[in-house]
Amino acid sequence: MTLRLAATPSGLETAARILRDGGLVAFGTETVYGLGGDATQPAAVARIFEAKNRPRFNPLISHFATAEAAFEQVVATPLARRLAHAFWPGPLTLVLPRASTSTVSDLAADGLESLAVRVPKGESIQALLRAVGRPVAAPSANRSGRISPSDASHVLEELEGRIDAVLDSGPCQVGLESTVLDLTAEGSPILLRPGGIPAEALEEICGPLAYPESETETAPASPGRMLSHYAPALPVRLNALSVSPTEGLLAFGPTPLAGAGAGWNLSQAGNLEEAAARLFSGLRYLDKQGAVLGLTGIAVQPVPAHGLGLAIQDRLRRAAAPRPAL
Ligand code: TXA
Ligand code: MG
Repeated sequence: MTLRLAATPSGLETAARILRDGGLVAFGTETVYGLGGDATQPAAVARIFEAKNRPRFNPLISHFATAEAAFEQVVATPLARRLAHAFWPGPLTLVLPRASTSTVSDLAADGLESLAVRVPKGESIQALLRAVGRPVAAPSANRSGRISPSDASHVLEELEGRIDAVLDSGPCQVGLESTVLDLTAEGSPILLRPGGIPAEALEEICGPLAYPESETETAPASPGRMLSHYAPALPVRLNALSVSPTEGLLAFGPTPLAGAGAGWNLSQAGNLEEAAARLFSGLRYLDKQGAVLGLTGIAVQPVPAHGLGLAIQDRLRRAAAPRPAL
């Protein structure tokens, strides 16, 4: 049984109690819904992997109410503090050396010497993290390899009966996961995953960013970078310049292609923030329409390659990537 909790003082209180007792609560953040468990209890973390059906080799992000709490768990550099000051609370995850005094379990950190930390934005997630008072590990609240949820009802579609509760704080504002920045290497910070904070905004503080060397199925620097990660059921075709009646259209901008069997416009106005917020809902919607109407695929109109457009393109490339054999 999965409880559906409202974001009221008593809902928050219940959610915090479940987490402290080692249970699982999905909650809204500004990016996507996370599937939270107490990062200090390996049994709680194990339940997260089990509920998601997630391969064990994925380290999880630990979430905190404040930068001070986050920096108790890692060795923070001056650059990390500047980034935290500029972007927290907000959609930025920093990978830093794990402090020797860190209370985060090895299972949550996947035994790595580094730890990913983030301070999410939003009244209810902030109140929840304050009430729990411990690091909360939370991957996106979807089954492994599926579309990230940006609404409480998406979470229930994926995980109903597999988790203790979902705290409903409404739709997520950013709609894309956080940007993951690795500060452990010498030299430039490495952008492991594009996300809610555009690279250009980071570069104003960090200078030029570095990028992971290669993207392979077998040894991803960051498992969020695995190909075929954000997979709808229907095959996805990128940069479509025309569309057929048997396809669903994921459009962008004021001139959606004519002739599709179903359509979802990421942003009529061509606004990339709006498009990011509507991306995962759009893929879900077209998937469902596909099942009803017997569509054969999803065609995606080009999205510009700047700002949040880079993160949107990244997610779409994954949605279109060849699927691993199951
Ligand atoms: O917006 C978000 O980041 C959401 C919300 C719930 O906070 N969380 C999320 O978690 O997207 P998840 O587990 O789906 O993605 C975490 C990403 C993965 O790509 C993972 O590999 C990377 O962060 N990551 C975590 N710990 C890491 C570490 N120590 N070193 C490198 N990458 C790490
Ligand atoms: Mg995920």
